[in-house]
Amino acid sequence: MILSKKPHILIIGSSNTDLTIKSEKLPSPGETVIGNEFFIASGGKGANQAVAARRAGANVTFIAKIGDDDFGRNNIQLYQNDGINTDHILIDKNNYSGIALIMVDSKGENLISVASNSNYNFHPKDIESKKEIIKTADIILIQNEIPDQTNLTVINMAFDLKIPLIFNPAPGPKKPLSSTILKKIKYLTPNKKELELVTGKLIKEETDIYTIGQELVQSGIENLILTLGNKGSLLINKNETIAIPAFKVDAIDTVGAGDCFNGYLGAMLASGKSLYDSIKIASAAAAISVTKRGAQPSIPNYNEVVHFIETH
Ligand code: ATP
Ligand code: RIB
Repeated sequence: MILSKKPHILIIGSSNTDLTIKSEKLPSPGETVIGNEFFIASGGKGANQAVAARRAGANVTFIAKIGDDDFGRNNIQLYQNDGINTDHILIDKNNYSGIALIMVDSKGENLISVASNSNYNFHPKDIESKKEIIKTADIILIQNEIPDQTNLTVINMAFDLKIPLIFNPAPGPKKPLSSTILKKIKYLTPNKKELELVTGKLIKEETDIYTIGQELVQSGIENLILTLGNKGSLLINKNETIAIPAFKVDAIDTVGAGDCFNGYLGAMLASGKSLYDSIKIASAAAAISVTKRGAQPSIPNYNEVVHFIETH
């Protein structure tokens, strides 16, 4: 199956190499546990979302900054194997490429520690230098693993160019987002923890997510799409509040579920699907991804997602 319109999605963000150990349980501080599986895969929230959008069938340009090392070169090769345009990836001669150390337990829970390295040497002037390609995007997708000022430059540029922007604020910001910034973001996709950090408000009970979500919409966000793991997601905008349930699966590794969701969401919206359908398809893609190990290796292609929806 092919998409009705083949959109151009531009993803700006991080690229990492994920070094993952699976073990029965996660270690506590000071504790050593013996793992039973190790694998290396390309990762980083930006790259994972680029791969997801590409496997969803979109034309994808990925802009990131990697180090001049084998990790970075290997990442680029893998993105090219997926058919992603890597012509605008920048090379940092002074820093290593990003690295994530990941531990996953037998229930699929994880701990992640990221050395941002070249991802944090990605500056606003790098974005200015890419304005010509940025102009050609149908939709822009960003996350929170590059410097705030760089993301802010993208948000302002997308707003001025009238290109819809999805901001996945993961990991959560150090301080709440101002109303001036919120008004320039068409889709904000936090998880629960990130919603607290974006707003500076604590979720004490389940009903708080509705109140805080609606307040965020009043402060300027056009569409809030709150992801809630195996509980699905919640869409809140001026017209509606809709819960979209998760598909029921046996999760073995949830690393990158949010990235798979966001990349698919961007691709579906840009292809002209409704917001509700886009979220449903993104949820199906993310559900498939948690049944397989690794962030990028677990991202399904569009045909697989269509078949999954038809059979669930
Ligand atoms: P992560 O940080 O683990 O990449 P996240 O916290 O950003 O993820 P989640 O809310 O965990 O994002 O997941 C995004 C979406 O993926 C959910 O809204 C849901 O649709 C789907 N999903 C995640 N976990 C599961 C699961 N165990 N079973 C089914 N669907 C899931
Ligand atoms: O969202 C999952 C990603 O977070 C991993 O691929 C890891 O690189 C970290 O950036």
